[in-house]
Amino acid sequence: MISFPQKQVSVRNALTGEEYLLVALDSIDPSEEAIERVTSICNEPLVYDWLFRKMLSGEPYPPSKAKEWFEWAAMGWAQNAFFVFGVLDPDGRLAAACDIKTADAAGAEVGYWASCGHRGIMTNALKGLIDLAKGAGFESLFAEVREDNVRSQAVLRRAGFCLSDQKPARAGHRMVFSVRMLTP
Ligand SMILES: CC(C)(COP(=O)(O)OP(=O)(O)OC[C@H]1O[C@@H](n2cnc3c(N)ncnc32)[C@H](O)[C@@H]1OP(=O)(O)O)[C@@H](O)C(=O)NCCC(=O)NCCS
Repeated sequence: MISFPQKQVSVRNALTGEEYLLVALDSIDPSEEAIERVTSICNEPLVYDWLFRKMLSGEPYPPSKAKEWFEWAAMGWAQNAFFVFGVLDPDGRLAAACDIKTADAAGAEVGYWASCGHRGIMTNALKGLIDLAKGAGFESLFAEVREDNVRSQAVLRRAGFCLSDQKPARAGHRMVFSVRMLTP
């Protein structure tokens, strides 16, 4: 049974040294400003191209989708089914996000995005997520990455994930990386 004794942890931006906060998204107020912020990041070229262009058929990521994202994240926490985290910058503004997509303790998939204005935070945020996941009872995490998404692969490698042949990649030239939690 997955249970998070700790739902937040401080993470350092590796390039600036600034302290950010990785925190369960259900404790971030989905204010108009936060919704605007998520909308703006999800329309940044890198995030939009990798995660939303195909899904939205080239239409811009709308604020309504950001609002739904906050609601969906709250539902995940309430049902203990999936776990979305935000990364807040030192001013308390959302800079990045990451999630654990199921409560499968043996091996759950992670996902993430970061604003290009906050280079240097994603790897350490993912490391923070691994620590929290370990405390919650996850034994292993994995990520599926497109072969040409080299920035994402670099994040995974820096965070300690290894290219895995344990799980066959789905169609679309995806590579599977995984990390196992070390026992204390
Ligand atoms: C994937 C993504 C999150 C990567 O963001 P990023 O800013 O490159 O990631 P990081 O913050 O970890 O790294 C930024 C820089 O800091 C450096 N850095 C980060 N953490 C570091 C650490 N712990 N030690 C040393 N250097 C570090 C990196 O080397 C990198 O330097 P570079 O830009 O010169 O290569 C971002 O490109 C993104 O949101 N893409 C779209 C969504 C996506 O692809 N999601 C994944 C789907 S599988």
